[in-house]
Amino acid sequence: MVSSALLSSLLVLSLSGILGQTAGQMSFDLEVKYNQPNRDCELYPAQAAFRGVLFGAMTRLANSDQDFNFTYSENIDYGAFLESVNGVFGNNQDHTYWELLVQTANNIIISADVGISCYIPQANEKVILNFTSY
Ligand SMILES: *[C@@H]1O[C@H](CO)[C@@H](O)[C@H](O)[C@H]1NC(C)=O
Ligand SMILES: *[C@@H]1O[C@H](CO)[C@@H](O)[C@H](O)[C@H]1NC(C)=O
Repeated sequence: MVSSALLSSLLVLSLSGILGQTAGQMSFDLEVKYNQPNRDCELYPAQAAFRGVLFGAMTRLANSDQDFNFTYSENIDYGAFLESVNGVFGNNQDHTYWELLVQTANNIIISADVGISCYIPQANEKVILNFTSY
């Protein structure tokens, strides 16, 4: 019979193994689409933590790549609201904002339906920040 102390230490070991192996290792692409005649889209290789949200991956990318930055405001209901990407701001006068889209492995583009604080990127998909209007 295996003692519960041994079982729980085995559990801790395997958990730390899982977290150690997968943290920061989930790769996906992040595309920034400005939809402006003078500005091409940009594609960044990004890393998310195991079951980590997009916000973390974007923060890590902004910290490691000087060609990517973003700003956000806090919303108590929806989490971080994306205000600007690479210096391009959405604004109420022009009815512009950064739309969060996802291109899945079978090339279908869907709305993420949640904000950057809630969306969990999946391996090998493409997350698209699409500058658009409403
Ligand atoms: C963010 O990126 C844009 C475009 O590359 C750049 O013009 C701007 O200075 C950057 N802002 C910060 C705070 O780094
Ligand atoms: C992105 O935004 C542009 C400009 O509003 C829009 O035409 C396009 O349908 C949106 N979606 C994708 C996948 O580009």
